[in-house]
Amino acid sequence: MQISTEFQGKITNAFGESGKAWLESLASTVQTYLEKWELTSEGPVSNLSYNYVIKVTDSVGTPLILKLGVPNFDTSNEMATLQLYNGDGCAKLLKSDSKNGVMLLERLVPGKMLSAETDERVVLENYIKVWKAIRKPLPDGASTPSLVHWFRGLTNYRHSGDSQIKMEHVQLAEEYFKMVMDTSKGPELLHGDLHHENILYAEQHGWMAIDPKGVAGDPYFDVVSFLVNQLDSKPNPKNILKLRVDTISDQLGLDRKRLLKAAIALGTLYACWGIEDSDPDWEKTYQCVKWFIDFLE
Ligand SMILES: Nc1ncnc2c1ncn2[C@@H]1O[C@H](COP(=O)(O)OP(=O)(O)O)[C@@H](O)[C@H]1O
Ligand SMILES: [Mg+2]
Repeated sequence: MQISTEFQGKITNAFGESGKAWLESLASTVQTYLEKWELTSEGPVSNLSYNYVIKVTDSVGTPLILKLGVPNFDTSNEMATLQLYNGDGCAKLLKSDSKNGVMLLERLVPGKMLSAETDERVVLENYIKVWKAIRKPLPDGASTPSLVHWFRGLTNYRHSGDSQIKMEHVQLAEEYFKMVMDTSKGPELLHGDLHHENILYAEQHGWMAIDPKGVAGDPYFDVVSFLVNQLDSKPNPKNILKLRVDTISDQLGLDRKRLLKAAIALGTLYACWGIEDSDPDWEKTYQCVKWFIDFLE
């Protein structure tokens, strides 16, 4: 099995020694699960990021996806979240082994990503359907982490010594997070990363989500990952961002100002995470935060 050097580099950068150990046994782990679950490999998908995702078929030829990640809290939380969705609006988890970070998923065929749609109005129409389809209450006793936990990232940023994000913006993000929390009807299950590349078209079901992060919080926060994504190729990104905010608040019946406050809060957190992870795209996200502030005025 060939594992590209690009993928290996990404994994060692992100996970260090545990990533290296995982890569060393990846080929044999894949082989073990192909045999155990009686699968035939069709090879990895072309857009690997931090997980090894393989197209497979089962013993009767059903197309499925085998997804392997470094076993950690995030991978087991993804499995727990997929179980909570149970196929509603999100590709179904068929088998899993949390200890080894392995998932067998329903394959969405043909699996075209929402980022491949060019007409922004069509994108918004389909996005809105998926956002509605994956609303779920948080079941009693669910182990889903809270957005409160995520937002500790702003405090970490304050203590990091970095000053690329203005402290007045960090403070605004903290204030708006508190304001949205104080006016919330209570936490729901959120997908946590519902952007264009995590929404795929399936002949059988229409547009569906994949790859949930799984976090408990106010549903307004579940649009932010989409709002700030896929803007840099657009001729007028600020206008597109405004169209997204206006259309989503209108069609989902969300309070526009509250939505912008949620977007400023979470967008700032994303930018802080980006700096922490040395992701050059953090500046694009920060630009969106500044535009959200303009829209609010
Ligand atoms: N259930 C699925 N059906 C079809 N394609 C999938 C499915 N899950 C993942 N893929 C493909 O693999 C890519 C990476 O999978 P994803 O779960 O998003 O991994 P990551 O967590 O690394 O982002 C997706 O963008 C998509 O192209
Ligand atoms: Mg993904």
